Amino acid sequence: MDCETEDSFERLLDALRIPAAGDTLSERDALPLRMPVEGVHYSDNRRVIAGRIETGRVSVGDHVLFSPSNQTARVAGIEVRDVPAPLTEATAGRPIGLTLDTQLVIERGETVSHLDEPPIETDVFRARLYWLRRGPLEPGRRFTLRLGTAAADVEVQSIDRVIDPGAPDGQVTGDGIAEVILRSRTMLALDEFEANPRTGRCVLADGSEVVGVGLIGMEGYPDQRALITGCSSNVSVIDHGVSRAARTRRNRHAVGVIWLTGLSGAGKSTLAIEAEDHLFRKGYQVYALDGDNVRRGLNATLGFSPEDRAENIRRVGEVAALFADAGFIVLTAFISPYRSDRARARAAAERVSPNGFHEVYVRAPLEVCEARDPQGLYRRARAGEIADFTGISAPYEPPDRPELTVDTGDRPVERSLQALTDHIERHFALTDREPGG
Ligand code: ADX
Repeated sequence: MDCETEDSFERLLDALRIPAAGDTLSERDALPLRMPVEGVHYSDNRRVIAGRIETGRVSVGDHVLFSPSNQTARVAGIEVRDVPAPLTEATAGRPIGLTLDTQLVIERGETVSHLDEPPIETDVFRARLYWLRRGPLEPGRRFTLRLGTAAADVEVQSIDRVIDPGAPDGQVTGDGIAEVILRSRTMLALDEFEANPRTGRCVLADGSEVVGVGLIGMEGYPDQRALITGCSSNVSVIDHGVSRAARTRRNRHAVGVIWLTGLSGAGKSTLAIEAEDHLFRKGYQVYALDGDNVRRGLNATLGFSPEDRAENIRRVGEVAALFADAGFIVLTAFISPYRSDRARARAAAERVSPNGFHEVYVRAPLEVCEARDPQGLYRRARAGEIADFTGISAPYEPPDRPELTVDTGDRPVERSLQALTDHIERHFALTDREPGG
């Protein structure tokens, strides 16, 4: 089935009986401004941003935001093809051209919104996927995501729930419906279907074949916009007088961040604290950063919403990188449930030391963690007393390619500890004496 045009998309949604609330023009008008950019052309030396307003309205003078590139400008003019007089305002459904007060580099696929009502920025989201292909839907498969005018390479990260298998053997096949997690290599600008039925839906394609239609949800996942929007300006970086190499020579080992991730109760803190002790005795400059501890100080203002967890990990990733820069091997013990956040922590550490970040998956089955329940939190989460509890009512995304996996569910802690410290000592071996000293 081909789905190149908006009309054929509409027919597809109709055929699937997908509720299309917010689809009349007046309903669309009342929603926040969303205009997917179709292209940029030049007219009389001016750059004109062309697109059709999906929802909302835009006026000359409005402060607008382009996502996901995160650029802003004011609308200088609104033009409509074959209409000689420029408009002062345009409403939903209208194909228009915008000129801006600043020359931005904008490409097809960006979304125009107002500054105060932006779309979500994320590289991972949920979709209620209507699978159209005869063959089964399989995790790990990659497709082209079409979202407004944007196209991106996405992976079906997991199938979280099968709503209607479409086939008697339980596999999601032609006309099956499943709730899936889709991950993109690049940042996307999107809305939840419930908030905006026009920009909250997407198509999965394999080449030119449409294989699925998805309704977007973000439950359990953060809007990452705040994490990637820098606010500081007029700042210049100061160089240190003490070089990294000098610190490495004195400490007799390379620096690194050993990032432990796993469910609550998997044993991250125990391993980090024991490994810290072991390595310190051997002569390493080492420090353990632990979730429960850091949440009493630096991150005492953060809770467990998806956004707060993401900010928690952003800060810890930066702090760990600073410790590494100061010459340390840092062990971190945080659930850190989102792959995107761990990737950002890796990037921060690798700015200090290109091979210095080691992701360690501290793995234990949920049932084992729940049976251990060291602080009685699982019991309270099951009783509904704690919201957003990882593994129960909030997601955990295991690493896809960790440098080390330590199983803790079925063996004594000493063995897991040995595996961890062996790995660290192998990669961050102590030199006998201060080289050159
Ligand atoms: S993270 O998800 O943001 O990485 P972090 O590792 O800092 O979490 O904190 C996890 C610890 O907080 C758990 O070990 C547990 O003691 C406590 N905690 C309190 N509420 C929750 C919750 N809703 N989900 C998970 N852990 C929680």
